[in-house]
Amino acid sequence: GIKIVTIGGGSSYTPELVEGFIKRHHALPVKELWLVDIPEGKEKLEIVGKLAQRMAAEAGIDMTVHLSYSREEALPGADFVTTQFRVGMLEARAKDERIPLSYGVIGQETNGPGGLFKGLRTIPVIIDIVHDIERLCPDAWLVNFTNPAGMVTEAVLRYTNHERIVGLCNVPVGMQMGVAEALGVDGDRVRIDFAGLNHMVYGLNIYLDGNNIKQQALEAVADPANVSTMKNIAALGWEPEFIRALQVLPCPYHRYYYKTEEMLAEEQAAAEETGTRAEVVQGVEEELFALYADETLRTKPEQLEQRGGAYYSEAACSLINSIYNDTRDIQPVNTRNRGAVAGIPAESAVEISSVITKDGPRPIAVDELPVAVHGLVQQIKSFERVAAEAAVTGNYETALLAMTINPLVPSDTKAKQILDDMLEAHREHLPQF
Ligand code: NAD
Ligand code: G6P
Ligand code: MN
Ligand code: MN
Repeated sequence: GIKIVTIGGGSSYTPELVEGFIKRHHALPVKELWLVDIPEGKEKLEIVGKLAQRMAAEAGIDMTVHLSYSREEALPGADFVTTQFRVGMLEARAKDERIPLSYGVIGQETNGPGGLFKGLRTIPVIIDIVHDIERLCPDAWLVNFTNPAGMVTEAVLRYTNHERIVGLCNVPVGMQMGVAEALGVDGDRVRIDFAGLNHMVYGLNIYLDGNNIKQQALEAVADPANVSTMKNIAALGWEPEFIRALQVLPCPYHRYYYKTEEMLAEEQAAAEETGTRAEVVQGVEEELFALYADETLRTKPEQLEQRGGAYYSEAACSLINSIYNDTRDIQPVNTRNRGAVAGIPAESAVEISSVITKDGPRPIAVDELPVAVHGLVQQIKSFERVAAEAAVTGNYETALLAMTINPLVPSDTKAKQILDDMLEAHREHLPQF
């Protein structure tokens, strides 16, 4: 039987992971699921852990769910380690959103200054986790969701020796669903060739029943009646002529780069009216955990769909299934580039359609990205690399460099002000600085 260890097990997304393992139990016999959290997460872990135990019992499968506060205890013998933790919790995310906004800069969980700081808090922790994996279960695959997932994958690839890491995100599958909806067809008839970076990924070709229908799909997506997004991103439509000229399918996060002014105005209005996304999610979480605590609940509640990451565990279960069974199907993942995207370092992480084998993802080469998007992708890759270096070294000037070269930050002076403010606000979670 398979042993899975999930770090950040107290996450409200855990029931989705459990549902995924239940659904696949014949092909993917998970025998032990260990949910690991930190003592501060005890209340959440106990509620979600008990729900996970009820779900497994209700399904009648032979899977035991263990709760633990110790990686030392949980990791030995693991086949797969999934990570979905949030250093500093939603309180830290709210600061990542509010502080940049107060300078008139996008405040977002994975983009701009917020993404930089989430990386600075997260990367030292993921590197510790990888060192534990190398010691306690060196053959285990690390399946990471922890954001900023692209920067985190880059950091693990550059600063550890553990090759078995895959980063995941629900954005590609969301794009597939969005195209299907715009075309009025079932999602499983649409296939997209993805390439780029996490939250900076493009659809290069789009197929319906195997036929390339890119032009028809781009026309449908350009239609303001068909706006598709994620729950956490304002649903602003594209200029149809821009999409026609771009000639690839952008992801919902591209709005921060191609509609920066409008997105900033949206964020500023939301911050006043409903609170920032972290503040909204605090309310959603309260509702979810009240539901989870109800002992009559024995399945994943549909209210989880209010979260932007809904269906991300689906990606995890299907990736784990494909590695375990060597299925060689194609999935979009964050993995080492190895020359698949020309112009991005071979050793860097990219988000790209890959063949999934028992030895991990094999990225499908796309050559150079179209000139219209190549530069932005390279710029964000530079940002991720410099940010990862700052996270590992704790060097102030490197952090300032990362902040300043981010395209959402308009000047070196503002970068320094935002950096100083955020370093102070997040001090307790940044021991390296
Ligand atoms: P959350 O706030 O519920 O946190 C999950 C758990 O992490 C909490 O129970 C918390 O106690 C725990 N935690 C905090 N620090 C920890 C540490 N050092 N070690 C172990 N556990 C720790 O978070 P969430 O909203 O469920 O999101 C979890 C993570 O997944 C975040 O980083 C989020 O950005 C990311 N996420 C990624 C995707 C994706 O597409 N890749 C989608 C959704 C969420
Ligand atoms: C998106 C992303 C995730 C992100 C999340 C935010 O879809 O792919 O990487 O973290 O949703 O969701 P939330 O509900 O926390 O705002
Ligand atoms: Mn190793
Ligand atoms: Mn994501």
